[in-house]
Amino acid sequence: MIKTRLTDYFQIEHPILSAPMAFAAGGKLAAAVTNAGALGLIGGAYGDAQWLSHQFEAAQNAPVGCGFITWNLQKALDASPALLDSILERQPRAMFLSFGDPKPFAQTIINANTPLICQVQSVADARRAIDVGANVVVAQGAEAGGHGETRGTMTIVPEVADIIARSSPKTLLCAAGGIADGRGLAAALALGADGVVVGSRLWASEEALVHPNMLAAALEATGDSTIRSSVMDIARELEWPQRYTARVLKNAFIDRWHGDLDGLIANATEQAALWKDAWQRGEVDTANTFVGEATGLIDDVPPVREIIERLVNGAEEHLGRAAGLVVGTGG
Ligand SMILES: Cc1cc2nc3c(=O)[nH]c(=O)nc-3n(C[C@H](O)[C@H](O)[C@H](O)COP(=O)(O)O)c2cc1C
Repeated sequence: MIKTRLTDYFQIEHPILSAPMAFAAGGKLAAAVTNAGALGLIGGAYGDAQWLSHQFEAAQNAPVGCGFITWNLQKALDASPALLDSILERQPRAMFLSFGDPKPFAQTIINANTPLICQVQSVADARRAIDVGANVVVAQGAEAGGHGETRGTMTIVPEVADIIARSSPKTLLCAAGGIADGRGLAAALALGADGVVVGSRLWASEEALVHPNMLAAALEATGDSTIRSSVMDIARELEWPQRYTARVLKNAFIDRWHGDLDGLIANATEQAALWKDAWQRGEVDTANTFVGEATGLIDDVPPVREIIERLVNGAEEHLGRAAGLVVGTGG
């Protein structure tokens, strides 16, 4: 067992949270993660109230959390004013906000006695998350699957760890981006994190909502096969702030448009229809497979419980081995 401040805080066995992945992280995945001793989160993403309601039912009362894409949350609330309150009434184990300013929503979440997790991509974001009272800050590196920014996990995690130690020692820290096996979990703890957020590795699980063609493409891919791009956001007609791109598998659609975003914008209506149809059909040359560099560490699609066991057993082994490397006490 690995015990950290994160396991104490959430009263869980393993210092692992599942990423609230748009479309892929439904209630079945989140519940399986929680039932395996970690903490599962439903991917509330752009705030589809009906989908979310089905997914909470699918979680069958397992204590799970829920995530939203922050820059879109006000828009989602304009469309469904009761969205956030109705989720908070379900007493989720945590609310996870990422990609944007959490301030307009933080107090509502904190007032509902719901732990607030803010995923950040920069030092400035980390300071803002601490200021709004986040209980857990997730430092996300660019290796991550899905949306993110440019900092590497290896440096953003210890940099944020130092800021937390100096300015808000009670705040917990998780690392995200590229963590798919025991080595990654052990490394994140060594960098000063209290735990990890795992996306891609759990995306390739029996319980995730992922088209089989996309899983097959990811199993074949190496870490070199991914790219960060805005192509699929333009193709989905989503107004993502420019600073965020998404990591996906390269494909023919990326080859055609990544260097010609203006051309894609000019042809948006036609290309969006093609892309959306391809997504429904799992046609991986046109629609993009959202997965991180960790795709190169993934070669099977096991049940969640097995993935969590491998992560923890592997980390225990690596931490033990690392301790064995120390032969003196320094000076
Ligand atoms: C398929 C997929 C969808 C994602 N969707 C979201 C999302 O809707 N909201 C969010 O906060 N993060 C999302 N992420 C990013 C995760 O929160 C997390 O930072 C990332 O998965 C960690 O890196 P890893 O994929 O290498 O484990 C997504 C990641 C993936 C792989």
